[in-house]
Amino acid sequence: MNTNLVIFVNGQKIVKKNVRPETTLLQFLRKDLFLSGTKLSCGEGACGSCTVMVSSYNSSSKQIRHYSVNACLMPLVAVHGLAVTTVEGIGSTKTKLHPVQERLAKAYGSQCGFCSPGFVMSMYTLLRNYPEPSMAQIETAFQGNLCRCTGYRAILAGFRTFSKEWTCEEGENCCQNQTLSDTGYNACSKTFDASEFAVYDPTQDPIFPSELQLDATYQTKSICFKSSNVEWYRPNSLDEVCQLKQQYPNAIFTVGATSVGKSIRNSQSKKVFICLTNVQGLDNMTITDACIEIGATVTLAFLLEYIEHQATESKGFKKAGLESILDMLHQVGGHQLRNVASVGSNIASGGSTSDICTMMIAIGARVDLYNVSNKSTERRTVSDLHKDDGTSALQPSDLITFVYIPFMENDEYLYWHKHAERTDLNYATVNSAMRVKLDPDSNTIKDLVLCYGGVGHGSIVATQVREKTVGREWADDLVAFVSGLLGEELNVTLPPVGGSTNYKRSLTVGIFFKLFSRLQSTLHNIQSKIVHDMSSVRQKTLSSASQIFETLPIDQDGIDHVGQPVVHKSALQQASGEAVYCDDIPTYNNELHIALVIGNRAHAKILSIDASKAERMPGVKGFLSYKDIPNQVHGNITTEFIFAKDKVLYHGHTIGAIVADTLEQAMAARQYVHVDYEDLPAVIELETAISEKLYLPNPKVLQAGDMELGFKESDLIFEGEISMGSQEHFYMEPLSSIALPIGEAGEIDITVTSQSLIDIQAMVSQMLDVPKNRVKCHVKRLGGGFGGKAQCTEQFPLISALAATRFNRPARLTLDRETDMRTTGKRNRAHAKYTVGCTKRGKILAHEVELYIDGGFLDTLTAPFMPFSLLIAVCDQGYAFNNVKVTGYTCETNTNPGVPMRGSIYIQPLILTQALINDVASRLGLPIEQVHKVNMLQIGDLAPLGRELPDVHTMHKCWQRCLESSRYMEKRKMVEEYNRKSKWSKRGLYIIPTTRDSLPPLYGLCQGGALVNIYTDGSVWVNHGGVEMGQGLHTKLIQIASKVLKVPQDVIHITETTTNCVPNAPMTAGSMGSDVFGMAVKNACEKLMKRLGPYKAENQNGQWKDWVLAAYNDCTSLSATGFYFHPKENHWDLEKPREGNFSKYYLYGAAAVEVEVDCLTGAHRVIQVDGVMDFGRSLNPTIDIGQMEGAFIMGYGCFVSEQVVYDNKGKLLTKDATTYKIPGVRDIPTKFNMQILASHSDEAVLYGSKAVGEPPLHMSIAAMFAIKDAIAAARKDAGIEGPFQLNCPANAEQIHTLCSTKINI
Ligand SMILES: Cc1cc2nc3c(=O)[nH]c(=O)nc-3n(C[C@H](O)[C@H](O)[C@H](O)COP(=O)(O)OP(=O)(O)OC[C@H]3O[C@@H](n4cnc5c(N)ncnc54)[C@H](O)[C@@H]3O)c2cc1C
Ligand code: FES
Ligand code: FES
Repeated sequence: MNTNLVIFVNGQKIVKKNVRPETTLLQFLRKDLFLSGTKLSCGEGACGSCTVMVSSYNSSSKQIRHYSVNACLMPLVAVHGLAVTTVEGIGSTKTKLHPVQERLAKAYGSQCGFCSPGFVMSMYTLLRNYPEPSMAQIETAFQGNLCRCTGYRAILAGFRTFSKEWTCEEGENCCQNQTLSDTGYNACSKTFDASEFAVYDPTQDPIFPSELQLDATYQTKSICFKSSNVEWYRPNSLDEVCQLKQQYPNAIFTVGATSVGKSIRNSQSKKVFICLTNVQGLDNMTITDACIEIGATVTLAFLLEYIEHQATESKGFKKAGLESILDMLHQVGGHQLRNVASVGSNIASGGSTSDICTMMIAIGARVDLYNVSNKSTERRTVSDLHKDDGTSALQPSDLITFVYIPFMENDEYLYWHKHAERTDLNYATVNSAMRVKLDPDSNTIKDLVLCYGGVGHGSIVATQVREKTVGREWADDLVAFVSGLLGEELNVTLPPVGGSTNYKRSLTVGIFFKLFSRLQSTLHNIQSKIVHDMSSVRQKTLSSASQIFETLPIDQDGIDHVGQPVVHKSALQQASGEAVYCDDIPTYNNELHIALVIGNRAHAKILSIDASKAERMPGVKGFLSYKDIPNQVHGNITTEFIFAKDKVLYHGHTIGAIVADTLEQAMAARQYVHVDYEDLPAVIELETAISEKLYLPNPKVLQAGDMELGFKESDLIFEGEISMGSQEHFYMEPLSSIALPIGEAGEIDITVTSQSLIDIQAMVSQMLDVPKNRVKCHVKRLGGGFGGKAQCTEQFPLISALAATRFNRPARLTLDRETDMRTTGKRNRAHAKYTVGCTKRGKILAHEVELYIDGGFLDTLTAPFMPFSLLIAVCDQGYAFNNVKVTGYTCETNTNPGVPMRGSIYIQPLILTQALINDVASRLGLPIEQVHKVNMLQIGDLAPLGRELPDVHTMHKCWQRCLESSRYMEKRKMVEEYNRKSKWSKRGLYIIPTTRDSLPPLYGLCQGGALVNIYTDGSVWVNHGGVEMGQGLHTKLIQIASKVLKVPQDVIHITETTTNCVPNAPMTAGSMGSDVFGMAVKNACEKLMKRLGPYKAENQNGQWKDWVLAAYNDCTSLSATGFYFHPKENHWDLEKPREGNFSKYYLYGAAAVEVEVDCLTGAHRVIQVDGVMDFGRSLNPTIDIGQMEGAFIMGYGCFVSEQVVYDNKGKLLTKDATTYKIPGVRDIPTKFNMQILASHSDEAVLYGSKAVGEPPLHMSIAAMFAIKDAIAAARKDAGIEGPFQLNCPANAEQIHTLCSTKINI
């Protein structure tokens, strides 16, 4: 008998019949309740965008518990009898914002805003539990939340104001106390004024529904929900569990459903689940003299709290052991996960990287296995529960009821180490727990248990180590002995995500040494020669930051806010969940949903496609494939890219689409589309493409100067190479489109997540054979773009448009994260080979480069940009390279297309240049800053090809400022000092100048249009061709319009970007948005002001509204278009490389980065970043600081930490948020200092401002080379001098391997 679901959402009682267990809480909130503030981004608990607060009442303890959960994982049925609070429930711009929402927005912590509701709800939940949280609590509250835009600093800054401990992070060094002596400008650094924030009053928070408190049956009554495929039971007693198991022997147990959730949601056959959360007794925790007894359903969060409490009450070995367990628990997932996932479930699931299993096995934890058939209980070890191949040894009748965690006895030590690619929300690459029992007098080993995760199918105990170390003394020689045994007995057999087999093997030894060293350093009665591990890489101190921006003294009236800090115009709506993104648009009544069928071969002929079974599935309207496309399209993509015609060219090529009444039906049916392939040879690695010469014919060449002469005059000539990996855009909002057939004259309306409406409009028009004037494309905002929504994503709206016209119904296609990542383009991989000639002083006299850039299977987006990549490589980096030749090869592989990503293919030549400059310094033994300096353009110098870089003095100013503010020279000495003392970890330092031209290279892109309407009430509506994706474009353009029209900003509104208001707008990319669209808005506003002029003159004492009305009554148009284009003479062409300046102005900057690397594992920490950028006269310095920080962290991901991994068959292994790891909140620099230098530029376009979005990303290249500097120090210790190749990203495996640190004592 199905239960009626009762939940309270934002205080409102909801009763729902016939709830399907497959439905998640998120689906229900978004689709049934239209609470679209809670976002769907990854759908697997790995990003926190869907965070909501759940509150429950415990009638025994009489306590209300508030906890955050990931609504995307939570089955709706699991919240029966609970209260759910969403971002909409805590405040709104229409009523009153909650201080959490207000502070996030006003501290500039919301850029695209897609992550904002999730951050808000994590913070809100923290405050509900701790109204005055500590700074440390705030720092760790977002372990489960990701943001791709902000670089996290601003989010933390806003939320830290809730802490009593909050003061200016810089103390004495507060940037407001600094004077910038070399400028006459104001130095200001207040990004917000906390005294203006509404006070947080916990008594105003919504109260827990009394009904749930009074009616105990919500929790004590057993419940059941059924659909045709899934039955979900929540019994209340063990007896009931037994009865259910008798009835359904294969029923699956579940608690938090963080692991089995997928099979509940996507069940294609009959399945029964038994949810154990309410089974009495299974949530008990008790303590005995020897152990803690934990009920199997106790959540990890409760366990953590309990152990924390026990640890404070304990002493000595017991306390230390508990602290190690806490250390481990703090690193399992994020809060949202730990709040629902249970201890018993984790142990039952096992797996190669279960932190809990590794720890439990090491400490000898035991479990009670209750047999639900014969009701007997057996006590077993945790390792008994898993077979050698990693599969579960549990029988369907086995229920874990209790877990027994033993205390450490006297002279028993427990240590934990987890090495992962990201600090939080990350499965381990390798984890390890070590338990040692020593004889206190002799220090001989009584028992040494070393357990590792990540090296095999489950957590593995080094049994030989255990057997052969008994009786050995705990002394230095143990390291070599154990290392040898580990090498013999641990057989790494896992796929290469996270690192190769060799690396993981080596990690087991490195980690053992760390654990050994930790214990060694605590033992007093021991003679040891080992140098202890000083690494602070994993010590997470609170991050701090400073933001300095200078404002030029300009005559501004009160209404003119250009150049002033202005909060992002929709930040408040984003923080309150009111901001509308594409998939937030409520479903139309008769809407159809689309699920894609994608290829699973890297290169293969399609022999046949059979969709007949899928088409017979309930709700399915049809299957679309290549033959259904009515007309060919030509553009960034071709028809064969919408749907593969007869071949798939990469793993992820779209083959077809199932169209159905509901998304669930479409997703279910797509699994039944059968495709037969004949495999063809596939090229996956760029190296293979290079060696097999798989590149476009006639590689592009750009040369300046006389190469022969340059090499002839050189004192030193050498060769080098560098490779650069790909990067995933990882916008938080997945691609989405909704096509609406208007049903008249071929009109179609498409809402789409795109930076380039013009392309979609053109291709839909071609495909449907209707003029462009029938195709309306629009976008309100994007939840991040970074170039990933610019090109090569047109196929998705085209598929929606095809479905909509074919079935004459609205059609929606929102990609799930995996489909998004597998189908879409990524940053181009690259490889460069170079020969360099230089003087003894480090001046580069000649260099010749072969630059290979991977276009993936589609070169049409890479080849046109190649000439500009060459231009950057040769001329435009602020260096005086007089003799240089670069040959650019566009390579082809059977991988995802290479597409522009923030920084575009400027990035590859920049990395290449830094690699060769670094080699020069290394070969000549010169300080890197000196090599930069001798090669930098001096004032009056011409760049290669006789090009003049305007305002080059600004580059030197940024450089000097960076040297000073980072205290670079002082720091260099400190780094050397640290490296002298520290054997196992090394620090590195690097500084770079950055230069960037201003315009997107393709001429057609350098134009922009706008339409400005004034209505008779005086309100102003601005529309322009640019797309808002978090960069603050709309905000800046409102500032411009307000300045020109001389009206307050709140009179002006921007609703969306649409092709029917501003036609033919180029894509918003290449950082040119505010230049071209800002100028267009300015132009339109100036026209309007001119028209209003006579009415102002006539009525000088009047107000804006009076003049507007007077103009209207006088039949004067109050609507004007504006347009801007960059003059054609700026256009640059590879055929005439000495002509055309291509860039109107240049942006300069500099960055110094200090890092520490842990040689034993390859882990690292960014200690400090000092970035200085010149944005001319910044339009909005606080938004621009946010762009700097966000770009730095994205670049840091690109150059250091993010990895796109394919297997040897071309299958993308890093295909979701769990396997692809963008930096998290605790990966940001410990000290994150950013400065905007005010500068004048006669060339700058809009009120003296310069472009912002991409150029700051270049700063983070310094992080990679700082790591290289640290590695060089380690190599020096190892006796290896001279240059070496560090590829990009500088991941942990490379760091560890290149350090070549030998553990020989
Ligand atoms: C984003 C993310 C990050 C993660 N990070 C980490 C990490 O860093 N470290 C780590 O160790 N883990 C990590 N995990 C795994 C996570 O810890 C597990 O998913 C979780 O512990 C499972 O608990 P659950 O209650 O949700 O289990 P469920 O999904 O409800 O069940 C899991 C399995 O356990 C079985 N089961 C449950 N209870 C019992 C019982 N009493 N007796 C027998 N069988 C039972 C179920 O039948 C099922 O097969 C992560 C998971 C996610 C989604
Ligand atoms: S955690 Fe739920 S959408 Fe990412
Ligand atoms: S603001 Fe965080 S993802 Fe865009």
